[in-house]
Amino acid sequence: MLDKLERLPADSILGLAAIAKADANPNKVDLTVGVYMNEDGVCPVFKAVKMAQAALQQEEVSKSYLPPAGVDAFNDGMQQLLFGAGHPALRDGRVSSVQAPGGCGALRIGAEIIFAAAPTAKVWVSDPTWPVHLPLLGSVGLEFETYRYYEPVSHGVNFDGMVEDLKRAQTGDVVLLHGCCHNPCGADLSLEQWGVVADMAEAQGFVPFVDIAYQGLGDGLEEDAAGLRLLAERVPEMIIAASCSKNMGLYRERTGAVMFVCQNRANAEALVSQALVAARRVYSMPPAHGALIAGRILSDQALDEIWRTELMDMCGRMNGLRTGLREKLEAASSRDFAFIEKEKGMFSFLGLSTKQAIRLREEYSVYMLDSSRINVAGVNARNIDYLAQSVASVL
Ligand SMILES: Cc1ncc(COP(=O)(O)O)c(C=O)c1O
Repeated sequence: MLDKLERLPADSILGLAAIAKADANPNKVDLTVGVYMNEDGVCPVFKAVKMAQAALQQEEVSKSYLPPAGVDAFNDGMQQLLFGAGHPALRDGRVSSVQAPGGCGALRIGAEIIFAAAPTAKVWVSDPTWPVHLPLLGSVGLEFETYRYYEPVSHGVNFDGMVEDLKRAQTGDVVLLHGCCHNPCGADLSLEQWGVVADMAEAQGFVPFVDIAYQGLGDGLEEDAAGLRLLAERVPEMIIAASCSKNMGLYRERTGAVMFVCQNRANAEALVSQALVAARRVYSMPPAHGALIAGRILSDQALDEIWRTELMDMCGRMNGLRTGLREKLEAASSRDFAFIEKEKGMFSFLGLSTKQAIRLREEYSVYMLDSSRINVAGVNARNIDYLAQSVASVL
């Protein structure tokens, strides 16, 4: 039986990262995977995480299962973080949450819930979107439609195209939106544009599904959640997949939450029972370590302040890298790279052809995706000149 299964090609992003890792060129630059790197090229552990972890280790008396919905302090803390204290949806008890294994686990549970409620619902995804959205949601049985999003010539959002396409979304369809720091393009909606999406959701009856994996890495924790908060005030129903992989650096601890904004409290509670049955089917119980750490940070004022400062520094460094990269690329190539500075979060397309991206890899050991998506956090003071010169040489 098993011998009928053939070897599959490696994941396109992880496969490329493995090739970059094996490259012996001392000048190599790896901008492939979406993991934050500090100035030394290391993905660091937050101080607040270390402190919470040390305290938890002292206190731990059991490795028994968590309750199926996860750690209460985590679920509560994440709701406050995403919605902000006093948000009307929270105040009205219309929001419920279940801990999930990372943002991916949250997306998957969200997809299971959509399929249970409306198996023929179409999920509208941006063009482009994070490629993992398709297998994560599609393997549940959901079908996709695409809406225009990124416009490569202006390097911005084609909002007119997006609106025109979303006019075809039907009542009960789901529109997947990146909460902030769009992956892969880094181009985000303005608050006014979020308002237009809310108008459309209200008028047409589609359900927003907000994937927010980079809160705090764009303009700040509050600013990055502003679109989601606006939607949650306006629409009757909405699903959210949140991740602590990037903003707490808890990648391998698989720490995330799926949230449901419902029409009333009873419905929000019913959704928890639905999510738990879906989780039982897929992975049974949530992992403890990351959620205990995140829950501790979010519920302890001193730790929370330390974490927020670290996150702000990280965000500031990335925005500084965006400015630096723009300047170096413009100096090396006399092309306009202003868009890099305007985009948010970890990713941007450099606007190169696939051929140019492959040349960079093969001739200069500069690794980015074929689409020329780069992880801005992979840039540092040691590689920025080489990177800019290499890019200029293939233009
Ligand atoms: C757009 C987007 N959504 C969700 C995730 C989920 O990440 P994780 O499952 O590691 O929390 C990622 C991670 O790269 C992402 O880029």
